[in-house]
Amino acid sequence: MAKPVLLVTRKLPEAIEAEAERLFDARLNSADEGWFRDGAAIARRAAESGAAGILCAAGDPMGPDTVAALPDSVKAITTFSVGYDHVGVAAARARGITVANTPDVLSFATAETAMTLMLMAARRAGEGERMVRAGKWEGWAPTQLMGVTLEGKRLGILGFGRIGRELAAMARGFRMEIHYRDIQKLPPELEQGAVYHDNDDAFLAAIDVLSMHVPGGAGTAKWLNRERLAKMKRGALVVNSGRGGSVDDAALVEALASGHIRAAGLDVYDGEPKVFPGYLGLENVALLPHLGSATIETRDAMGRRALENLEAVLLKGTAAPHEVR
Ligand code: DGY
Repeated sequence: MAKPVLLVTRKLPEAIEAEAERLFDARLNSADEGWFRDGAAIARRAAESGAAGILCAAGDPMGPDTVAALPDSVKAITTFSVGYDHVGVAAARARGITVANTPDVLSFATAETAMTLMLMAARRAGEGERMVRAGKWEGWAPTQLMGVTLEGKRLGILGFGRIGRELAAMARGFRMEIHYRDIQKLPPELEQGAVYHDNDDAFLAAIDVLSMHVPGGAGTAKWLNRERLAKMKRGALVVNSGRGGSVDDAALVEALASGHIRAAGLDVYDGEPKVFPGYLGLENVALLPHLGSATIETRDAMGRRALENLEAVLLKGTAAPHEVR
């Protein structure tokens, strides 16, 4: 029997492309050609190839319009990401198309990125690196680039899911006190002593560092706005490795420029790869290019997970192990 056609929108790790070709009649994009940026082009390729599955990635325009334009041959979409805010899940469900993602395997790597940003913000690592590269470093000085320590500080984790809890475990090693805000209080075995806040005001007033791990979408759009920033302690730090849309960029830039927020670290941006221009002139913000899950080990694991989903639906006729609804 002919293998089902799988349309892959992005260049993937070598071993994953090889496995995709072993399992499916895979139409790869090994040169990472830019058609993945255009939903109509994705739908057209799916139609031309008679795709049964689409393996897309974070940020691909797989919203309701693209889903509506897909041919009837498409039965499954798997995104190479845990986030699926870029996929029209309801539109897909209405057409009987399974949508799945790659959870769990990237939690540690993404928490590592949040920890990196926290350290960069607290210890002014971006500023220091820029100074050295620009040839402006004149040697050690007692008052040069003094940051703040994380030791003993209260870390406020917004969204205490798998990534947030991995970050909490790391931060305990830095002797931080963990606080969290989520829709509901978690059982003690997941809290591990973290302090739950059932409202934003108490949460924001209590913490020294905010780390954001919310999934994006309308429910959390511009969550960190001027009003909430004002409720944070003067000199607090802000880190976002969730989704860029949950920050009101103009408000954060204002708070960074005034010193109300001492420093920030961002890995994700509203409308990325565009970056809000106000950040670019500020020394007290560390900017990473959405590196969250970017380790060799994690990206291989994400690829295997994506293929497991597609194999289940398209080859075994079973439910995708990581279906999202
Ligand atoms: C995800 O998986 O959603 C990440 O943001 C990609 O690194």
